Order: sequence, then C-alpha cells, then structure tokens
Amino acid sequence: MKRVDDFRLRFGRQELVPIVVGGMGVDISNAELALEIARLGGIGHISDAMLPTVSDRRYDTNYVSQKLKKYKANVASSDKSQVHFSLGEVEEATRQHVGRTMEAKRGDGLIFINCMEKLTMNAPRETLRARLRAALDAGIDGITLSAGLHLGSFGLIEDHPRFRDAKLGIIVSSARALGMFLRKNARLDRLPDFVVVEGPLAGGHLGFGLDWAKYDLPTIVGEVLAMMKAEELKIPVIAAGGIFTGSDAAAFLEQGAAAVQVATRFTVTAECGLPDKVKQEYFRASEADIEVNLLSPTGYPMRMLKGSPGIGAGIRPNCEAYGYLLDANGRCAYIDAYNREVERHPGAKKISVADKTCLCTHMRNFDIWTCGHYTYRLKDTTRRAADGSYALLSAEHVFRDYLFSSNGQIALPG
Ligand SMILES: Cc1cc2nc3c(=O)[nH]c(=O)nc-3n(C[C@H](O)[C@H](O)[C@H](O)COP(=O)(O)O)c2cc1C
Repeated sequence: MKRVDDFRLRFGRQELVPIVVGGMGVDISNAELALEIARLGGIGHISDAMLPTVSDRRYDTNYVSQKLKKYKANVASSDKSQVHFSLGEVEEATRQHVGRTMEAKRGDGLIFINCMEKLTMNAPRETLRARLRAALDAGIDGITLSAGLHLGSFGLIEDHPRFRDAKLGIIVSSARALGMFLRKNARLDRLPDFVVVEGPLAGGHLGFGLDWAKYDLPTIVGEVLAMMKAEELKIPVIAAGGIFTGSDAAAFLEQGAAAVQVATRFTVTAECGLPDKVKQEYFRASEADIEVNLLSPTGYPMRMLKGSPGIGAGIRPNCEAYGYLLDANGRCAYIDAYNREVERHPGAKKISVADKTCLCTHMRNFDIWTCGHYTYRLKDTTRRAADGSYALLSAEHVFRDYLFSSNGQIALPG
C-alpha cells in the first residue's frame, strides 16, 4: 500500500506535498499554522472571516470599536439595514493580514486564503469583491472559494492583474455544484486551478442537509472525477472531510485525487488558533458530544460540540460591532430569533435563544466549537498527562504522520 509521500500535487511545473490544511474561521487556521504547513511543503490556509476583528486582536488596530462608535445609536434597534462596513477598512485589514503572513512565509509550500460567500456583510457583492481583490493585492498564493456556490465570484476579480496567475479554486460538495460553477464561468476562459470536494464528515458549515449521513466522500469524489474525465478537464481534485489517517489520505490519492484537505487533526496542534482550554475540549469529546444542527444563521447545517458555550445563549445581536452575517437587506436569522424571545419574555433580564446562535460574536470568542465528525478520535492521537490533560501536538508532527503513516496507524508524539 502506498503512502501519501509517494504522491505529489502538481500545479504546472510546481510540485507540492499533497496535503492541504483547510481554512478554519475565525482565525483558527491562523497565520502560524499556515506558515508551518507552507514551510513543510504543503498548502496552508488563512481565513478571511471577520478580518477587521481579527486584525484588532493581532495587530492592535481598532476597527471594531470605531464601527461600534459610528453605529452606537442603532444598538437597541432591530433594524440593522443601516449598519455597513467601510470597504476601505475591509480592504486595509485584509491587506495587512495577508501581507504580513506572506512576508513571513518560508519554504516551498503555498498559503491560500479561504473566502466564504456566506459572509454577506450587508453588501454581499461589494464586500466579497473588496476581500478577494485585497488578498490578491497583498500577494496571497491562492484563494479557496467556500460556503456558497460562488457563481459570480470569478467575475469580481476578472480584471485583477493576478486573476490568471494566482491559484483559484472552489469547494463543492457535489458534481452538480461544480457543473454549475463551470457553466456560469465559461465566458471567462479561466478554469479553477483546483476543486476541493468536501464530504459530509467535515467541520464548519456543511454543503449537505440534515440527511448528511446518507452521503459519502469516496462516492462524491468518484462522481467528480468521472465528470472531469467525460468533459476532458484536468483540474486537480482535492478530497476533504473525515480523512483522519495517512492511510485514509493515500486511499483518496490512489482513487485519483490530487491531494487531500484536512483540518480536524490540526485543531489540537500548538500552532492552531483555538485557545488551549478549547483544544482540551476537542480532545475530551466523545462521539455523543458532537452534533450537526441548524443553529447557524447562514441556513447551512453546522457540526459542533454540544457543549459549546454559545449554544442557547441569548446575547443581544452585536451587528454594530460585527455584522458579518447580515444579508443584502441587513437581516440575520439570529436577530429574528432573539427578538421573538424578547417579545415572549417581557422584562426578563436574561433570555435564551435555542434555535439560532449569534455566530459572529461566538466564533469571535471561540464559544461555538465547530469540529469535524472524527473529533472524538483526537484523544487517540496523543499522550495523556497524569493530571488528565492531553499533550498538544506540533503541526509538523501531524503533517509528517499524514505523510508517512501506513496501515491506518497514527504516530504518537515522542
Ligand atoms: C474548526 C473548524 C473550522 C472550520 N471552518 C471552516 C471555514 O471557516 N471555512 C471553510 O470553508 N471550511 C471550514 N472548515 C472545514 C475545513 O476547512 C476542512 O475542509 C474539513 O474540516 C476537512 O475535514 P476534517 O476536519 O475531517 O479533516 C472548518 C473545519 C474545522 C474543523
């Protein structure tokens, strides 16, 4: 049986280790993790989710407090349609984060940015356009379009000088979604450089309904590969979702995938942006602690730990400070759910909202613990100390385990 190290991902003449660490917002797949993966010769992702907010934490800017100050008078109002981002600031924050990360890059690998269409920011086209263009300006190696069909996203950057040189790809969960994307963009004469096929066991938002368990990644990858063959397309296919061991990964590479995208195994590395206490929650999780629910205001199902502190919390919507999920009309499903509970419990000091969560605030504070299906196996990837805590891993250790392991084995840290 072959190992991952027997394969390489080829972009033209460039050869890479066929391991991609997927985007994890908000700043979970941070610059430190992405830089380490690039140093090791793979592809690391930073995320463009909530970058003005991330920038305040990382670089001492004050975008959030300035925005809140500007819209303070609106805080008690349920109408958020007037709460807008400054496009200039969104661009500035993106340029700074991407620019600093790219400057620090060492080694032969690449760094991509994960851009979610569902971050609609009360002006979907304009804000996505600003984010994509600023990332290209700042020298990002590539962009992975995610959380949405992105039928118009290539069009937003078609006149950018780097449109044909940066690596551009999309995440899909079916051959049908890929077909739609390709048809919509045929006029641009610019195919994606890669396609990530994400199955139902992934972390974050899912491209499936609550019947996700009926689907499986090998079948969907097979369908996408067959479609590529039928249409004589040679776009590298990257399999993602539930690939837990090097042997799992090698099986997809043997099936014809050009690389694998993984994330869950890296959530418990020292480099990963989650707080250490949350990393211990991921280690401790059992299978029964993980659920796929509809709490995200985006409308997509999302996988998370049932013990996430953000579940059921009835905090006041924080759109004047954040507002990343406001749709084109300034609405968010959490605001409606929150207002309904306030009306039901007049005068109550504290309310609970059971059906939706304020994802901006809770992801920003690491209080929604989104995770992959196999999070419950993380405890088998490390050693446990006498006090019951699990030892964090280095990203290099996990990367090398994917690269060299065989027979379903997982190497424990030394
Ligand atoms: C904590 C966490 C956060 C994630 N956030 C995002 C995200 O912001 N955008 C995205 O496209 N995918 C996101 N994902 C999905 C990963 O990029 C990746 O494709 C998937 O989780 C791979 O499956 P695995 O976790 O089983 O290895 C997230 C995954 C995890 C575990």
